[in-house]
Amino acid sequence: MNPSKTSRLPEPAADERAHSDRLLQHLREQIAARGPMPFSQYMERCLYAPGLGYYSAGKTKFGEAGDFVTAPELGDLFARCIAQLMQPVFAVLGDEADFLELGGGSGAFAEAVLLALIAGGVLPRRYLILEPSADLRERQRERLSAALPADVFARVAWIDRPPEESWRGVLFANEVIDALPTTRFMMRHGEVYEEHIALDGDGRLLRVDRPADALVAGAVRHVERDLGREFDDGYRSEILPQLPYWIQAIAGSLEVGLMLFIDYGYVRREFYLPERQDGTLMAHYRHRAHSDPLYLPGLNDLTASVDFTALAEAGNSAGFGVAAYVPQAQFLIAAGLQQVFEQAYEHAADDVVRYDLAQQVKKLTLPDQMGERFQAMLFARGMPALPVPEALLDADQGERL
Ligand SMILES: C[S@@+](CC[C@H](N)C(=O)[O-])C[C@H]1O[C@@H](n2cnc3c(N)ncnc32)[C@H](O)[C@@H]1O
Repeated sequence: MNPSKTSRLPEPAADERAHSDRLLQHLREQIAARGPMPFSQYMERCLYAPGLGYYSAGKTKFGEAGDFVTAPELGDLFARCIAQLMQPVFAVLGDEADFLELGGGSGAFAEAVLLALIAGGVLPRRYLILEPSADLRERQRERLSAALPADVFARVAWIDRPPEESWRGVLFANEVIDALPTTRFMMRHGEVYEEHIALDGDGRLLRVDRPADALVAGAVRHVERDLGREFDDGYRSEILPQLPYWIQAIAGSLEVGLMLFIDYGYVRREFYLPERQDGTLMAHYRHRAHSDPLYLPGLNDLTASVDFTALAEAGNSAGFGVAAYVPQAQFLIAAGLQQVFEQAYEHAADDVVRYDLAQQVKKLTLPDQMGERFQAMLFARGMPALPVPEALLDADQGERL
C-alpha cells in the first residue's frame, strides 16, 4: 500500500479488515503456489472470488451507503428513457423478443425499466439477467419479486451463461465493461510487458512486470498500428485482449436486435493519450476514488475506462454494426429525457420528489457529472430499418471512433 495515496480514506471496520485479510491470504497462497499472477487475474479475484470478492460478498456497494452511485441508482429517469427508446424496438421485434441485462447490480435498472415497459404496454417475452455474483443475484431476486406484479416477475429469469440458441431482442449493459478484469501492460525498450502481482520477502503484494504473452503483445501492437505510433518507453495502460471473444460469447447468438452499452470511456486516441502514462485504473472505496489497486483487496471496487474503439471493433467482428456512439447526455436527450422528466414531474407527490428529479437530470447530463464522461454505444444486427428516434442517429459520433 502506498500511504500517500490512501491515507485520507475512511478506516475500514474490524470485520471489513478481517474480510480483506481473508482474500489477501487466498491471494498469497495462490501466488506462493503458482508464481506472480497477471493483474487481470488479481482483479478478477478481488472482484469475483466466491464469498470473498467485492461483487461476490455481501457488502452494500451501490448507492449512498455504498462505494459508488451508478445511473440507475440515482432514480428511475435513466431506465425510463431506455424503456421509451426500446418500446418501438420490441413492437417491431414481436412477441418472441427478449431483454437480456448483463450485470444487474442492485436490480434498480430491471425494476424501473420493467415498470416503465408495463406502463407503455409492450413487454419483452422474458427479462433475462446474466449476473455472475450469487450475492447480487439474490438481492435482485428479492427486490424484483417485491416490486413487480407476479405475472411480470414470472418473465424474469437468471441465467448462468449467454443463451446458446439463436434469439431476438435487446442486450443491455450499464457499467459492466469497466468491471471486466483488465490486463495492464507497460513498454520497456520497445517490448511489451504485462503487469503481475507478486509477493515481497514479507508476504506483501507488489507489482512486477514480466514479458507479455503473444495475446497481450498482439493486442498492444494492434492498438499501436491503429494509432499510427508506438507507445513511449515506460508507458503503462490497460487493454482487454479478450474483449472480442467476450462479445462473441455474450452476443453471438443474438440474431436480430440491438445491443446497448453505457460506460465511462473514450475513443482509442483519447484513451491512450501519451500523457495518460498510468492508464485509467481506479479504485473506489466509500465514494472516494484512489489509484492503489493493492489497498484493502476485496473492499474496493476496481474499474478501468472503456476503449470504445475496441468495443466497436469487437461488436463488428461479432457481426454487429454501430448504429450510434454518443455521450450519455445526448443519448438520454435523444431517447426522450425531456418528456420522461415532464411526466415524472407532473405526477410527483411533493417538492422533495420534484427536487430529486431535477437533481437526477443534472447528474445524468451535466458534462462534469455523467453527461460526457459516459458514452452510449448502440449496435444493431439483422434490423435494416432501426425504429429509434432520428435525433439519436443524427447525434451519432461514430466517425470519432
Ligand atoms: C459497476 S456494477 C454495475 C451494476 C448495474 N449495471 C448498474 O448500473 O448499477 C457491475 C456489474 O457487472 C457485473 N458483471 C461483472 N462481470 C460480468 C460479466 N462478465 N457478465 C455479466 N455481468 C458482469 C457485476 O457483478 C455487477 O453486477
